[in-house]
Amino acid sequence: MVEVKICVGSSCHLKGAPEVVEKFKSLIKEKELEDTINLKASFCQNNCTAGVNITIDGTKISNVSGNEVEKIIDQKILGEIVNENT
Ligand code: FES
Repeated sequence: MVEVKICVGSSCHLKGAPEVVEKFKSLIKEKELEDTINLKASFCQNNCTAGVNITIDGTKISNVSGNEVEKIIDQKILGEIVNENT
């Protein structure tokens, strides 16, 4: 299970965190990743100027926008799982 934490602090909220959350939710459903991705919200990750911030298993990714979510899932999350299994 990969833990994804999306910052929903006020600065990231203004920069589009709700859209990032929605995108994750719909792609998790679409790609049937309910058992792979554990989606959580976090408070401010102390990097507001580079929001939206998310962490994937503790690794920070900054400047995330809704239209990048699919790329992040494919490359960072599914890519990592493939690597772990080889
Ligand atoms: S509000 Fe997201 S890092 Fe501060």
